[in-house]
Amino acid sequence: MALEFPKNFFWGAATSAHQVEGGNYNDWSEWEKANAERLAEEAHKKWQPWQQEKFPEMFEPENYISGRACDHYHRYEQDFDIAKSLGHNAHRFSIEWSRIEPEEGKFDEKEIEHYRQVILALTAQRVEPFITLWHWTNPLWIRDIGGWENKKTIEYFLRYVAYVIKLTGIGDTVKFWIPINEPSVYVGHGYVIGTFPPQVKSFARANKVLKNLIIAHRQAYKLIHKELGNEVAVGAVHNYHYHTPFRRWHPLDLLATKVFHYICDVRSSKWAKDCEDFIGLNYYYRDTVKFVFGGGRFGLIDIKNPNKEISDIGWDIYPEGVYRILKDLKKYGKPIYITENGLADSKDGKRAKFIKEHLCWIHKAIEEGVDVRGYFCWSLLDNFEWDKGFWPRFGLVEIDYKTLERKIRPSAWEYKKIIENQAEFTP
Ligand code: FCB
Repeated sequence: MALEFPKNFFWGAATSAHQVEGGNYNDWSEWEKANAERLAEEAHKKWQPWQQEKFPEMFEPENYISGRACDHYHRYEQDFDIAKSLGHNAHRFSIEWSRIEPEEGKFDEKEIEHYRQVILALTAQRVEPFITLWHWTNPLWIRDIGGWENKKTIEYFLRYVAYVIKLTGIGDTVKFWIPINEPSVYVGHGYVIGTFPPQVKSFARANKVLKNLIIAHRQAYKLIHKELGNEVAVGAVHNYHYHTPFRRWHPLDLLATKVFHYICDVRSSKWAKDCEDFIGLNYYYRDTVKFVFGGGRFGLIDIKNPNKEISDIGWDIYPEGVYRILKDLKKYGKPIYITENGLADSKDGKRAKFIKEHLCWIHKAIEEGVDVRGYFCWSLLDNFEWDKGFWPRFGLVEIDYKTLERKIRPSAWEYKKIIENQAEFTP
């Protein structure tokens, strides 16, 4: 049976500047250089034997240096031709602040022209651009004033946003805007568990940063509408895991699940409620939550992963989770776009099934009245997966990092069949 999706549904894939462009000079690129050796060394402890065997590149320091990445900065036209050939009618990408404003107050016209061309390349092909204005990377001068811990950063961010949307003409052609990608993931990794720059472990500092990111989103929301009117749509992008109790019958696991769900998901939905025209949902996996008496990864809470179906980086494959989350988000009464969903799967053995099954559950949610309007696969291309570097392969398109050759994976054609309503589904 082929599943019918709504008529004007957006189908596409997502990327972010630092992960694909290459040649960036920002807080991440500098952190990579300082930490590549350590990350390569730690891989021996961090990953399972089967992962170490399958991906020996994780022991090479250069795996952790974004460098020229996919060189998407110079090859975006070729990449968009591929996306078009795969049936995509929308594309999510981010603009790199450190390119636009490499020094405080000095805006680079050349870079703005670059992004104008990127947008034109999409719209010329009738591919709808969804623009993220900040996907985790900061100019070095922002890092040097304390990053998002400093309130001044909000002001600077808004000045950059104003510049991009108003002064450059870019705003005239773009309807969908995402000021900030996944604030809670940025804060969790950078300021709680300390695996991303600036590698802080402090709840107090994490709270401060989260607060500033939320203010920045809220004000950017107002600013974009003030400058571009109500024709445009501004969304917040959240990363939600699906949380279930490790032992269904255990009252403390049930309680721990509720607490975790509140902290990770409900809080985000609450702050965003009055400053998002659409909800951006990034869904990757399920977490099963276990109460432990001390020694848990999060104090009294531990996260277990019971599923045998996992991706190359061990993320639990659980398609039904997207349906459960969507049903829960229905109460906010907003249109929803799945702004990221995908998996690391270098051999491409699981991706087609993964996409199909998630879309089956998404379709079921739509049938039950949830207003889902688009789906973006993470990612169009293999890319630089932050502190894990290049070895996790998330792309519909494979990248040979030596030659930069692009190779379309079979799952990308399967995705195309779904887009064209020709795929067989067995829900
Ligand atoms: C998301 C990030 C994205 C990518 C995927 C795998 O949380 O937004 O940049 O790293 O995870």
